[in-house]
Amino acid sequence: MPEFPVPVADCFERIADDLASKGWSVQPGALSSELALSLSQACRQLWQSDALTPAAIGRGADLAVVPQIRGDYTRWLDDCPPQAAQDEYLAVMQGLQLTLNRALFLGLDSFETHFALYPPGAGYSRHLDRFKDSPLRTVSVVAYLNQQWQPGDGGELRLHLREGIVDIEPKAGTLAVFMSARILHEVLEAGKERASLVGWFRRRPDNPLFR
Ligand code: OGA
Ligand code: MN
Repeated sequence: MPEFPVPVADCFERIADDLASKGWSVQPGALSSELALSLSQACRQLWQSDALTPAAIGRGADLAVVPQIRGDYTRWLDDCPPQAAQDEYLAVMQGLQLTLNRALFLGLDSFETHFALYPPGAGYSRHLDRFKDSPLRTVSVVAYLNQQWQPGDGGELRLHLREGIVDIEPKAGTLAVFMSARILHEVLEAGKERASLVGWFRRRPDNPLFR
């Protein structure tokens, strides 16, 4: 188990509390500015070298690229050249997984994540993060990588909650975490390039709490 500075560990507990009480959590400054900067540089370098590919929606025979619905470009972390910053991010996610399992008994056993870049004009229409044929994605995590983001730049994450709408600014170092199957969300049209790491904790298929 990696050791984490207290602020990061505190933030894991706050996320667990928020998920239990309302199903979503936003933690500005969860990632150190050094880590967010290295990840941001990695994402933008992939983008500039044409190593990101248009994201598709659906699964299997229904898989399709539909930029009007989803306009980002992605690459799985597993498929990127290894980098210390990426390992550090995965270690942080491992710590979060452990805290969520201890606090909420979610039975999370794996984490998959990809870089995502939304060019100006791109967004992602309202959706849930769980596939009909594969119900294992349980907790979604987005780490934002935009050092220069300012109001008016667009690309907010919009949560559609029973209580109303919540917009989250995609600022570098912020983590947004939510229950994949419960929280309807969308990415508002980006006015400027918008970089992030989007990931999902998957649960063990045999977790009895989810039958
Ligand atoms: C997704 C998604 C949200 C965001 O990729 O499924 O909803 O803020 N991303 O990038
Ligand atoms: Mn989503």
